[in-house]
Amino acid sequence: MKMETLSVIKGDYNLKDYNQAYENFDWTEVEKNFSWSETGKVNIAYEAIDRHAEGVRKNKVALYYRDPSREEKYTFKEMKEYSNRAANVLKQAADVEKGDRVFVFMPRSPELYFTILGAMKLGAVVGPLFEAFMEGAVRDRLDDSEAKVIVTTPALLERVPVNELPALKHIVLVGEEVKEDGKIIDFLGRLETASKELEIEWVGREDGMLLHYTSGSTGKPKGVLHVHNAMIQQYQTANWILDLKEDDIYWCTADPGWVTGTVYGMFGPWLNGASNVIVGGRFKPETWYQTIEDYGITVWYSAPTAFRMLMGAGDELVKQFDLSSLRHVLSVGEPLNPEVVRWGVKVFNLRIHDNWWMTETGAQIISNYPSMEIKPGSMGKPFPGIKAAIVDDQGNELPPNRMGNLAIYKGWPSMMNIIWNNPEKYESYFMPNGWYVSGDSAYMDEDGYFWFQGRVDDVIMTSGERVGPFEVESKLVEHPAIAEAGVIGKPDPVRGEIIKAFVALREGYEVSDELKEEIRDFVKKGLAAHAAPREIEFKDKLPKTRSGKIMRRVLKAWELDLPTGDLSTMED
Ligand code: WTA
Repeated sequence: MKMETLSVIKGDYNLKDYNQAYENFDWTEVEKNFSWSETGKVNIAYEAIDRHAEGVRKNKVALYYRDPSREEKYTFKEMKEYSNRAANVLKQAADVEKGDRVFVFMPRSPELYFTILGAMKLGAVVGPLFEAFMEGAVRDRLDDSEAKVIVTTPALLERVPVNELPALKHIVLVGEEVKEDGKIIDFLGRLETASKELEIEWVGREDGMLLHYTSGSTGKPKGVLHVHNAMIQQYQTANWILDLKEDDIYWCTADPGWVTGTVYGMFGPWLNGASNVIVGGRFKPETWYQTIEDYGITVWYSAPTAFRMLMGAGDELVKQFDLSSLRHVLSVGEPLNPEVVRWGVKVFNLRIHDNWWMTETGAQIISNYPSMEIKPGSMGKPFPGIKAAIVDDQGNELPPNRMGNLAIYKGWPSMMNIIWNNPEKYESYFMPNGWYVSGDSAYMDEDGYFWFQGRVDDVIMTSGERVGPFEVESKLVEHPAIAEAGVIGKPDPVRGEIIKAFVALREGYEVSDELKEEIRDFVKKGLAAHAAPREIEFKDKLPKTRSGKIMRRVLKAWELDLPTGDLSTMED
């Protein structure tokens, strides 16, 4: 079969020849881009912001910020000063020191970015929380990491169960007229008077900086720790995959509560000295196109669900905006349908470049590069300096076109450093012969392109957000009416997958639409809106193993009308 390919659109790209780069690649050459290769001093916030502020990019805009109520911009010099001020607030009022866990829990705003950078300048480990998280989700993460400080807004504070978190010493509130009381600290009030000067905490390359909690198929969410050394790969991928250049205006649509929003919403672009656009507020096709037109966005990084929603909003809408500034478009987080790639060619006259990575990998791993032919539906090829393969369950590399585990050979620069409090879990990702097993299944074709097939485990990707079924099930069974719950991802044309829950009710409860609504609301309020099941189906009993584990595989087979497979471990 002749594969459909999209040829390269001519241009002067940072990565000119993929094959040549792959053969000759050397990470130690990349390190020379950083001042610490000379000084021996490391801090990612310095390399992302201060270095540019002290050089020729001093007055270049680092951050264009917009939401429905604010529109502001900050140069690299101003970013340096504001992040220094934020660091001084955290240090002086909240005692933040190297290694402390500082969580940020608030909607996008310039202050959020000052805080993340400021905390990193102190050598703290930053834990970003998605603003939609509810009390249970917040508690689990702060508790597991023994967070010392949370930076949040008065509106979100009610979701922080302060009294149940003994390690939490300070709450830094970002809001008007905050009353301080020793534990509570007024961020904005202090920010304006805080010093612009700061002695950065120089740390080791293997010291922690970022702690993203992410979902697996079992257990509570896991804290994936990234270290300052990740900057090497975050810099080089943003250079070659995002293809950032001096004049680019770059926009990544992801929220920093998720790894794409920190690594490619902050570090990748800023390590490259790029102008970065950050937009708060809700998704609306009109607003998004307007953003591209208003800022003259040249490089745009988003996700399949968003592209599908834009596609659903119609081609006529696209024509109402001037999108001619766009030159490079990218997608991540879930499978990008060939149909969407073709739509992109039709309406933007550009290819949408799919790429693959995950929280644990700390940066992009597999990608379509602008100077490379694209096969719509494929995620592309491994980044130079990185070995990826399809392996069987014993860790043997499989030949082309055989489906298996998508694996990466350990030791890439941005690889997670630990799973917080959970060394066994960390070890379980690796095969004895050195392969990191991603949990995704895929195959590689004879030209070396990787094709995503699905998750090996039960992790759900809904609208590009990663949700663990266990977390949702645990919340469901807290509801008084629910005896047992099993949760699966159900394929959905727009959202990739939606969350579907199967529940068995306790004695004395009746099935009803009101109860369904109530259950959905219960998860929404207890966990997060994006984790609430869109579909709920009542069952008398759920399929379980003899040891009592819900068999999600069987639920999925029921849902999709597939054979249920081996049922020998199922209870009678
Ligand atoms: C999925 C997001 C198909 C995959 C950066 C992975 C993808 C999980 C792609 C990680 C892609 C990511 N095509 N699936 N291009 N990119 N995924 O940790 O299942 O939120 O394991 O990181 O998203 O999700 P995470």
